[in-house]
Amino acid sequence: MPKFYLTTPIYYVNAPAHIGHAYTTLAADVIARHYRKKLGEESVFFLTGTDEHGAKIAEAAQTAGKTPKEFCDEMAPLFAKTWKRLNVSYDHFIRTTDDYHEKSAAEFLTTLKVKGALYEGDYTGLYCNGCESFITEKQLTENGLCKDHLRAPERIVEKNWFFNLQTYLPKVKKIIEDGKLRVLPEAKTEEVLGLFRQSRLFGGQGGMENFSVSRPNVKWGIPLPWDRSQTIYVWVEALLNYWTAVHKYQMFWPPDLQIIGKDIIKFHCIYWPALLLAYYDGDAEQLPKTIFAHGFFTVNGQKMSKTLQNVIDPNDLALRYGEDGARYLILSQFPFGADGDIEEGKFTVKYNADLANGVGNLVSRVATLCVKQITDRGEFWKQALTNYELRIKNDADDALIEQLKLFERLQLIVREIQLCDEHLANKQPWKLEKEKQQKKIIELLADAVAGILLIAKHCAPFLPNTSAEITKRFNAHDKKIIIGDSLFPRK
Ligand code: MSP
Repeated sequence: MPKFYLTTPIYYVNAPAHIGHAYTTLAADVIARHYRKKLGEESVFFLTGTDEHGAKIAEAAQTAGKTPKEFCDEMAPLFAKTWKRLNVSYDHFIRTTDDYHEKSAAEFLTTLKVKGALYEGDYTGLYCNGCESFITEKQLTENGLCKDHLRAPERIVEKNWFFNLQTYLPKVKKIIEDGKLRVLPEAKTEEVLGLFRQSRLFGGQGGMENFSVSRPNVKWGIPLPWDRSQTIYVWVEALLNYWTAVHKYQMFWPPDLQIIGKDIIKFHCIYWPALLLAYYDGDAEQLPKTIFAHGFFTVNGQKMSKTLQNVIDPNDLALRYGEDGARYLILSQFPFGADGDIEEGKFTVKYNADLANGVGNLVSRVATLCVKQITDRGEFWKQALTNYELRIKNDADDALIEQLKLFERLQLIVREIQLCDEHLANKQPWKLEKEKQQKKIIELLADAVAGILLIAKHCAPFLPNTSAEITKRFNAHDKKIIIGDSLFPRK
């Protein structure tokens, strides 16, 4: 049986979901919906969830005056709620505080120890709670602050259990070079191979050193089974979510596509495959097939941040533009993979141009024309469906979605809508005489309705409600057409 296992990163619960998280999750949702149509509902497993352990979350909980568990129990459902609000069709939502995850993650670590992939050592260095990782002097500003979080890292001297990354680096590198694990877009393959080259193993100046899998002073985490004074390092534990989540659904392993943002490439493309190789005795078949790292966006030219008050809440977008409106506005900004900027002020312009005056207007216009102008409904539906079948046959299906060209796919749909509109504007079926020119009217409107049904099919993964509503209004089964309210009321 074919299968498709798709994941998003699991998001930190220190703050509610923002538009960046929604971007990754919606892209994954479009892909999941596409593969469900192609392979069957049961063949797809789409995973998302929340990353809840570690110092960063413990700190946020403390600021909120809650225990970490209380805090996470409040925040995690907000993510699930946001995804429901945006009609995200995940199959499972994992929380790293779920029992099964805690148990399996600990077992994974025990196996690594048994296989000799871990050793005990001392760590001296800088740790940034914002990054949840050890950082080097190179990652600091002139004033000694972490460049990403603008906060002073902690100088740490502690005993850790380390993962012997060096043993696995050459094999991970080869697997990526051979394309057995595809890192996409292609520029990102180069970026990852560049990271390998920093390692002394490959003649570099240093980098990609062995890393800690445990922390002694972080209480909010999963204890190491053989050394309960330590908890599992939050990044290692987080990566394992992709593995612990499908324990009950083994047939889905390994991941077919993992979507991440470009900020977490090193963890996913180097640490994660190395951990899996250690666990699976070097079996490359157990590694993810493709990791796609998309770009980051800024808002009005600036990095999103609480201090700048430019964080966009996807729930607000859904409230303002509707579920499908928000999905469209988030995914249609710039090519998937590239970086880009979102201008908040342009949302309404885009909504009106592409949705209200685009698909919304086309659907109302054609429905009204059909109801007014068609007298021979039997003949009309016969032609509309023959025309539709013919178009489906010649349709270059959704190859673009499988190539992860989501933006380009959306642009083509918008173009299809425009062409359908332009055709009607040229032929002006409203000027034809209903009785005398019925044949011509049917020909034109059957063509338009076939076009609209095809648009509905194409936009289904992106705008699931709109697609369903269009097929309900142009109901081929009952041979009925409903005019209905505007799909996207003008703003
Ligand atoms: N918890 C870790 C991931 C663990 S996965 C095993 C984490 N969480 S996060 O909450 O910081 O989410 C990071 C992800 O959110 C990015 O990789 C990206 O998918 C998404 N984005 C966050 N901000 C974004 C933008 N400004 N632009 C686009 N995507 C963004 O890292």
